[in-house]
Amino acid sequence: MSSPTLENLGHEDRSFPPDPAFTAQANGTTAMYAAADADYESFWADQARSRLTWSKDFTEVLDWSKAPFATWFADGELNAAYNCVDRHVEAGHGDRVAIHFVGEPTDDTADTRDITYAELHAQVQRAANALQDLGVGKGDTVAIYLPMIPEAVVAMLACARIGAPHSVVFGGFSAEALNSRIRDAKCKLVITADGGYRRGAASALKPAVDEALAKAPTGVEHVLVVKRTGAEVAWTDVDIWWEDALAAADATHVAVGFEAEHPLFILYTSGTTGKPKGIFHTTGGYLTQVAYTNAVVHDVHPETDVYWCTADVGWVTGHSYIVYGPLANGATQVMYEGTPDTPHQGRWWEIIQDHKVTILYTAPTAIRTCMKWGESIPAKFDLSSLRVLGSVGESINPEAWMWYRRVIGAGTAPIVDTWWQTETGGIMISPLPGVTALKPGSAQRAIPGISVDVVDDEAKSVPDGGGGYLVVDKPWPAMLRGIWGDPERYQETYWSRFPGLYFAGDGAKKDSEGNIWLLGRVDDVMNVSGHRLSTTEIESALVSHPKVAEAAVVGAADATTGQAVCAFVILRGDAVQEVDEKGEGVDLVQELRNHVAKEIGPIAKPRQIMIVKELPKTRSGKIMRRLLRDVAEHREVGDVTTLADSTVMDLIKTGLDTTSED
Ligand code: PRX
Repeated sequence: MSSPTLENLGHEDRSFPPDPAFTAQANGTTAMYAAADADYESFWADQARSRLTWSKDFTEVLDWSKAPFATWFADGELNAAYNCVDRHVEAGHGDRVAIHFVGEPTDDTADTRDITYAELHAQVQRAANALQDLGVGKGDTVAIYLPMIPEAVVAMLACARIGAPHSVVFGGFSAEALNSRIRDAKCKLVITADGGYRRGAASALKPAVDEALAKAPTGVEHVLVVKRTGAEVAWTDVDIWWEDALAAADATHVAVGFEAEHPLFILYTSGTTGKPKGIFHTTGGYLTQVAYTNAVVHDVHPETDVYWCTADVGWVTGHSYIVYGPLANGATQVMYEGTPDTPHQGRWWEIIQDHKVTILYTAPTAIRTCMKWGESIPAKFDLSSLRVLGSVGESINPEAWMWYRRVIGAGTAPIVDTWWQTETGGIMISPLPGVTALKPGSAQRAIPGISVDVVDDEAKSVPDGGGGYLVVDKPWPAMLRGIWGDPERYQETYWSRFPGLYFAGDGAKKDSEGNIWLLGRVDDVMNVSGHRLSTTEIESALVSHPKVAEAAVVGAADATTGQAVCAFVILRGDAVQEVDEKGEGVDLVQELRNHVAKEIGPIAKPRQIMIVKELPKTRSGKIMRRLLRDVAEHREVGDVTTLADSTVMDLIKTGLDTTSED
């Protein structure tokens, strides 16, 4: 797969060495790389023992004899909820705030709550007892369909405490999606809420559960309903108020240890077929890696930091870096229910100011949105508490990286660009703050204990400067243990392309120093006239133009070149005004095409650039390139049900008169 084009792409040579003062206090160290390289099993065993409390120690670290089915720490036993809650209280930290909850409303329905570890302990014990009272036990699966409220954390930990794997379904998914997930995992109970607050209004959740249960027989015996908005809800005889169930339950619950390989959760993610994959993770290895990475990558110091991960608990980032990682470490964190622009575009920065947040972990799409809104907005708030910034979910373009560092991080905060997946469970590739000299736009290298490579079509490692497919070449503790109920699909999807290597589905290249640059999903890599081009790199080139806020690139079928580059671009506020005043949209398109040609090479010059007001995104912020491809190829736009805002496609289609094509 390596091609001259790939080798020429990207010429980022800015580098930001760590500040010695940061290094002096950092959890991550250079020595960790050497220790892990010398003996990675004992490195992970040390992490498991030093970061977690085991009710029964393990004697075996890794069994890979039945590859690709791994076991880690298999004869050890532990309880995930005990590790995330009880032991911090036992260590005398019961008064430490676990969660600063910030509800979205700021009016008379406003709700902010500071929940200490002691309070979390009390709630998790009652919830665990309530679940047991309803007949849920070890091995029973529970669906959780909740907004971003503390009860979501309590519900997950209560399930973990009794050994009932949870399947959290993002609150933005439809009744149809919920129904298929409930049935696939054979859930016995659902935990939901009457609703939550989003974009300035109460939005209902319970009706979707009612619809999901009515659709097809599910085997669900009870539905626990948290009261959040106070909206009227239809009620059936399977429904029980969460508050009532907890009040009726015993206040104390003794956590028992489970085998390290006991399933902790199932999380559905989309694959290449229409059927979502139930990725499942187990207890000991997963908890080890998320606690370790939250310590060394986010550099969390639980005594002093206030950490904030802006993801939703419905995604893997929320599982690993809101619930299990930070809580296993006894951290204090912010949890925010709503959108970044409710009631104003400075809401996030206001929360950071109010809670003196020190570590912020968010997604590039959010950063680019804030760039679009303008830097005068964060400038109104005191962000001086921030000392580490993180990014996850897609490549962060160098220009967005620089903006993030300069405007949000005062030009000093290290940025960790973390590559990982639902399947990997925890962070795999990332700089370590205080250790790594940072390169804007690159996730850089595998963290200590993890081994990745970039290979060509024949599974051969490409040299520095080459491009190919990202693989993981050694098992890792938080790796998925399979696809729920479908071991063949697990083998086929991840292990058949390159036998013995985990195929992540991402394209990547190594620069001349061996840093890894993620190029997007392999299906987002285009082939133009036999040259391989990455959507990410062209997007990055476009975003580096001062008039561009956000860009999405797709490869559209082209009779001559195989695929052609089509770009959709959102302009920055001042550029929009300029275009509106001078009507120079068409000139600007030409300017942007030339800019891409200058940044990457004439081969990457988009055939077509469409200036749009919005891009179609899923609720988790991923751009739906499939829909853009439909527009670029003049097709009827396909299924838009997973769009956060289903009117966006109409907006794009009606705005197409501002495009140019040659
Ligand atoms: O393509 C990669 C991209 O997100 C995919 C995983 O998506 P998901 O399972 O939803 O998990 C997202 C949160 C971990 C990957 O295959 N991705 C994730 N992080 C990065 C990234 N691409 C580039 N750089 C990243 N830092």
